[in-house]
Amino acid sequence: MIRPATAGDAAAIAGLEAALFGVDAWSAEQVSEELTGFGAGFILHAGEELAGYVVTRTIGDVSDLQRIAVDAAYQRGGRASALLREAMRAAAASGAERMLLEVAEDNEAALRFYAQRGFVEIDRRARYYRSGAAAIVMAADLFP
Ligand SMILES: CC(C)(COP(=O)(O)OP(=O)(O)OC[C@H]1O[C@@H](n2cnc3c(N)ncnc32)[C@H](O)[C@@H]1OP(=O)(O)O)[C@@H](O)C(=O)NCCC(=O)NCCS
Repeated sequence: MIRPATAGDAAAIAGLEAALFGVDAWSAEQVSEELTGFGAGFILHAGEELAGYVVTRTIGDVSDLQRIAVDAAYQRGGRASALLREAMRAAAASGAERMLLEVAEDNEAALRFYAQRGFVEIDRRARYYRSGAAAIVMAADLFP
């Protein structure tokens, strides 16, 4: 089931953050800030337990995709695709015309995932991640 995240979801989200993002993981406090930030869109894929989530920040005509993540046990089942579809629909409904994101140059799963969903590379940011990896900046048009 896809639903908006609430403050009560912060601990479960932080647990998935730690499992999937290591040193770059958000703490529960950071998750709470992301939940309530200006322009924030925080959507979960959850049943009995949390399977994944997507976080966007939509300001004006641009929506930034901050995070998309699915528990390793649930990957390759279409959950991230469903989350991204919903995030793009919501961002377009808020008036955004483009979605932008940064992805590590060595994150092959995410690069393939985004490319298959219409994102194209528009720029690169050297040494963007703590690992030293560059970020690839990607963009996709949104349609109302
Ligand atoms: C990227 C991610 C969100 C995809 O989630 P998912 O639920 O598995 O995605 P879906 O099932 O909707 O889509 C699967 C597609 O993603 C790509 N993909 C996912 N895992 C992949 C892998 N290990 N290797 C290559 N491609 C992969 C493929 O294009 C795949 O399509 P296919 O199954 O037809 O080949 C997930 O791998 C993840 O959470 N990774 C860790 C967090 C992360 O890096 N997030 C992105 C940066 S914020």
